[in-house]
Amino acid sequence: MSSVLIKGGRIVDPASSLDAVLDLRLRDGAVAEIGAGLDAAGDEVLDAAGTIVAPGFIDMHVHLRDPGFPEKETIATGTAAAVRGGFTSVACMPNTNPPLDDPRVIAAVLRDARALGSCHVYPIGAITRGRRGRHPCDFEALAKAGAVAFSDDGDTVDDVRVLRDAAMRAANLRAPFISHCEPENEIVARDLRVAAETQKAWHLAHLSTAAAVDLVREARERGVRVTCEATPHHLTFTNALLAERGGVARVNPPLRDERDVAALRAAVLDGTIDAFASDHAPHTREEKEVDVARAAPGFSGLEVAVGAYAAALPELSLPRFVALLSANPARILGIPGGTLAIGAPADVTIFADRGWTVDPATFLSKGKCTPFAGKVLSRAIVATIVAGIVRYRARELAA
Ligand code: NCD
Repeated sequence: MSSVLIKGGRIVDPASSLDAVLDLRLRDGAVAEIGAGLDAAGDEVLDAAGTIVAPGFIDMHVHLRDPGFPEKETIATGTAAAVRGGFTSVACMPNTNPPLDDPRVIAAVLRDARALGSCHVYPIGAITRGRRGRHPCDFEALAKAGAVAFSDDGDTVDDVRVLRDAAMRAANLRAPFISHCEPENEIVARDLRVAAETQKAWHLAHLSTAAAVDLVREARERGVRVTCEATPHHLTFTNALLAERGGVARVNPPLRDERDVAALRAAVLDGTIDAFASDHAPHTREEKEVDVARAAPGFSGLEVAVGAYAAALPELSLPRFVALLSANPARILGIPGGTLAIGAPADVTIFADRGWTVDPATFLSKGKCTPFAGKVLSRAIVATIVAGIVRYRARELAA
């Protein structure tokens, strides 16, 4: 197998409490060696001077639209966008057609991801059959097929009895439930109660309000096991954007007001938010460039996410920034990666603090709609290495 030597980068691996300028060798699909002045014999060498070398980033909330919506995205285009955005792993949501409520559909996604994907793909199974909110899925069968979490994302499980029953059936499985909470504050409060009652590992997707992060803080003080995530758009934009951009600015949960954006940023800084997640939700131009009432909700996020988190949170320390994108999502989902410890998977994200301007016309994602179009972001991906293979390399590093 190939070996890669990453020379002279600042290695930031919060899971190993490592932050130092060193060389890193990947061999046979694993981290083989970290040290000063490693010799290059036989390796593909990446000069990483002036860059940051981190455990491969994990986006735990993406919509790959596969199967069913190839006009929006496919596993091939979505994972190409992922590695361009610095992600070595993505977890994909089940609102496909057919939905990921059947072990055979999960198996097909994994097969296609191995054949056509540029990064690791971890399917998220549905909570209810057909995502219709009535009958719990067979969680054990879905987990056995490879589901790493369960969610009806895109929809809230409205009937709390169904949700409680589902959580009890899945209580002994490692894979957490991931709630899509709308109306947000009410459903966050409800799902925190169900998590406490059932002891199911629980994760709250795309939190966007000041009240929701307060509810999470209070629940944790009571000992509820819960984790949560924030998206680039909720950390950046307010609902003022709807007047400016119309349907392009539509997303679920919706953009909020300035107080909510400030509270969400504060919740990242104080550790209430555990993970960054893009909620990459690509749609066609025709579905987005219409009036707000008719526009499909969601944005293409994978290729702007890392730059956007950094721009929204310039005061966030590098180790915390890296943890929110690697160690934490790996731990929440129980998937490999999240560290550069010796023997860990050879998944590496190399990035640099350098400004760049978002041009959606260059996106590898089929979804070209993003509220970040034209924005200058402050952190850029330099290279993405998946299982020891360089899957993306910025032009300035191109050999
Ligand atoms: C998501 C999508 O398009 O799949 N859209 C979004 O605005 N986040 C689903 C959803 O959460 O509604």
